[in-house]
Amino acid sequence: MAETTARIIDGTAIAAGITEAVRGATGTLKAAGVTPGLAVVLVGADPASEVYVRNKGKTAASLGFHSVQINRPATIGEAELLALVDELNRDPAIHGILVQMPLPQHIDAAKVIEAIRPEKDVDGFHPINVGRLATGSRGNALVPCTPAGSMILVRHALGPDIAGLRAVVIGRSNIVGKPVAQLLLQENCTVTIAHSRTRDLAAVVREADIVVAAVGRPRLVRGDWVKPGATVIDVGMNRIPAPEKGEGQTRLVGDVAFDEAAAVAGWITPVPKGVGPMTIAMLMANTVTAASRIAGLPEASF
Ligand code: GUN
Repeated sequence: MAETTARIIDGTAIAAGITEAVRGATGTLKAAGVTPGLAVVLVGADPASEVYVRNKGKTAASLGFHSVQINRPATIGEAELLALVDELNRDPAIHGILVQMPLPQHIDAAKVIEAIRPEKDVDGFHPINVGRLATGSRGNALVPCTPAGSMILVRHALGPDIAGLRAVVIGRSNIVGKPVAQLLLQENCTVTIAHSRTRDLAAVVREADIVVAAVGRPRLVRGDWVKPGATVIDVGMNRIPAPEKGEGQTRLVGDVAFDEAAAVAGWITPVPKGVGPMTIAMLMANTVTAASRIAGLPEASF
């Protein structure tokens, strides 16, 4: 195996720092009579989603939030789910609403997202928040958690000034690819969004000072795609068979062939313990931000 030269970006440690800042801000809010409230809605029983949702709820509770998890069967009707969202919109104890994606086929996810009050949309998926991010009016936007967390990891590696760097985002999802591209653009990077139809993806990625891989394809990005010294942020969370751990066992790998890329990159995030913990930390930060704004209290910055 190639020798590791890249420095590892420790998402667990960086997320812990953010979580402590959120804990401080939560104390300030509580002293002013406001307990941040987060409602996480899980439709169906997808095992990966169950884990994510449980971790979100546990972290919220550990910070002293009012933390609610609402489970509904995969057979729930769209109207019933919309009614639940509306109830949460009107609940004064709830400042953040997250409906875990993906939703079952028979439910129009866009309709559900648009039903969430933008002020409570801690995922930052509502078109109002997407628009605020795209137009640069970040002051009252809620920014999607994984992209916001990814940017903190980029700044950890490269410092605050990344103007002029070439960034290649692989993946164009509404959850990660598009919003992280917006954030990189706002920092004055030259941004390319690559995707499954991109021609000669390897050559495109080789141009990048910053690579954000968010396609959900295990070990897609190979070592010889990475420009020497580049910063590699791996958003992928792919569960693959791991017969070496025993029959039926699995392991998590990213969208980047870590061992190969780490021999070439300047900085790289591992999977797990890279971007994953940042997503939850930023969700907590967004919930405190939403609670502060709804209560008309000063906001902390994270
Ligand atoms: N599914 C995968 N990532 C996310 C996320 O950040 N938010 C929601 N709501 N669903 C997801």
